[in-house]
Amino acid sequence: MDLQLKGKRAIVTGSTAGIGVGIAQSLAREGVRVAINGRSERRGLEVVEQIRAEGGDAVLALGNVATDEGADAAVAATLAAFGGVDILVNNAGGFAGSGSMTTVFDVTPDEWMRTIDMNVGAAIRMIQRLAPAMKEAGWGRIIQITSGIAMTPSGNTPDYAGAKAALVNLNLGTAKSLANTGVTVNAISPGTIFTRSVRAWFKTIGAREGWGDDMAKSEAWVLENQFPQMVPRIGRVEDIGDAVAYLASPRADFIDGVHLRVDGGASQSIS
Ligand SMILES: NC(=O)c1ccc[n+]([C@@H]2O[C@H](COP(=O)([O-])OP(=O)(O)OC[C@H]3O[C@@H](n4cnc5c(N)ncnc54)[C@H](OP(=O)(O)O)[C@@H]3O)[C@@H](O)[C@H]2O)c1
Repeated sequence: MDLQLKGKRAIVTGSTAGIGVGIAQSLAREGVRVAINGRSERRGLEVVEQIRAEGGDAVLALGNVATDEGADAAVAATLAAFGGVDILVNNAGGFAGSGSMTTVFDVTPDEWMRTIDMNVGAAIRMIQRLAPAMKEAGWGRIIQITSGIAMTPSGNTPDYAGAKAALVNLNLGTAKSLANTGVTVNAISPGTIFTRSVRAWFKTIGAREGWGDDMAKSEAWVLENQFPQMVPRIGRVEDIGDAVAYLASPRADFIDGVHLRVDGGASQSIS
């Protein structure tokens, strides 16, 4: 299927590592010109070079999207290179608390607010800066990367789970605000995707269980004990990247306001 994406212009927030790199690569392979955003210039340039080496078109758009100045800088660099943005992927996110095992009793109110700003504030800043021109042009795509934990909180990282739930809500609200404009707004919730944080987590499991850095054994342990799935493997960044490419394409014109779980069938409920 030709996704009809050739020549479109995108910015992917948080694309100097992890899932964002997979999204940028999937879009670039479809002929999209991609702005790589993050705070690390070194890692950002590596991603730009990787995409160019594969024949794609990428530029660096540094900036901390959890701040107004950082969002301004990222948008300015993208507009200077491409002259406009057709596709915004709000992927940057994470949590400010002290680790993945925090509960409501560990996360300070200040950390909660910072987590909300990293996930929700960042998306709002980028939407406010880029959606008006998409609306004016009569075509655009805005995609939020949320998390399975948004709909099924585990009790850990409650600030992150709550922020991602707010992002799912913001997604549909923004879609309604942009109804009948040619700009669609959709969200994707990844399940467990093999990134640097998951690699570190697998190493911790391996050390505890006695098989060291054997990632396959940690993967099997997680699927059996922690996150049972219908598809028996951990996700890859390209699983998310390819789903984003489809939703970003003109072929997905009739899909608006959805929240798509790309999680190997890890969902425990129908909503
Ligand atoms: N991995 C998973 O299993 C998983 C599952 C569900 C949802 N998610 C979501 O998917 C997204 C990507 O996660 P990941 O696992 O790929 O994370 P990651 O490997 O930690 O990468 C995060 C990326 O975001 C950038 N970033 C972080 N804060 C930023 C900020 N304030 N401004 C600009 N860039 C920022 C980082 O780059 P710099 O350090 O250069 O700034 C990096 O490029 C996140 O929203 C996460 O919540 C991940």
